[in-house]
Amino acid sequence: MELNDRSSLLAHLETRRSGRPRDMVAPGPDAEQLAHILELAARTPDHGKLVPYRFVIVERDQRQALADLFARALFDEDPDAHDAKVAKTLDKAHHAPALIVLVSSPVRAHKIPVWEQELTCGAAGMNLLHAVHAHGFVGGWITGAQAYHPMVTRAFCEEGERIAGFFFIGSPCQPLEERDRPDPSELVTRWEPPRD
Ligand SMILES: Cc1cc2nc3c(=O)[nH]c(=O)nc-3n(C[C@H](O)[C@H](O)[C@H](O)COP(=O)(O)O)c2cc1C
Repeated sequence: MELNDRSSLLAHLETRRSGRPRDMVAPGPDAEQLAHILELAARTPDHGKLVPYRFVIVERDQRQALADLFARALFDEDPDAHDAKVAKTLDKAHHAPALIVLVSSPVRAHKIPVWEQELTCGAAGMNLLHAVHAHGFVGGWITGAQAYHPMVTRAFCEEGERIAGFFFIGSPCQPLEERDRPDPSELVTRWEPPRD
């Protein structure tokens, strides 16, 4: 890899950060850009090449149906939900120009542990965020109560699958704020071999 390419890749890794879905506006990726983003997301380490994840695109004209689904799930969980909570839940379905649902789809009863397959799914999610950034957009990986409610999971998942996250994609309406990052000195230790 050329020095310039390496520098820009390092700059990408140093500067990429997520955005808040509610702050994402147009433009979002067009169909071709989105297809490329998902192709890059799938370039992920994958023990056994099982591809234990999949992507579900929620189109713009399906957002109201998603909001209705979120509302049904909310009232099922909390029949007395106050207005502000209802509004926030419905709004979530309309955030950002593009929305991808990442579904963890492990192959059960396989010699590759489900844990490793779930790690691959997480890696696909991270790659998706990198690909979004590389295309000049901002992404946000969100779960929230909806990702775990059976009414919502039934609408996206087959038996044995789970929602790994809602990936909102668009352009930031204001500069992104950096957040605290882990201190490497607190994260990294050197292995000490056992004495016996
Ligand atoms: C699996 C997963 C689920 C998440 N769910 C939420 C969520 O529901 N709400 C939220 O505010 N952040 C959630 N986050 C955190 C944000 O995606 C992200 O960590 C944060 O905005 C900063 O991201 P960055 O390190 O890419 O800048 C989740 C992260 C992961 C990995």
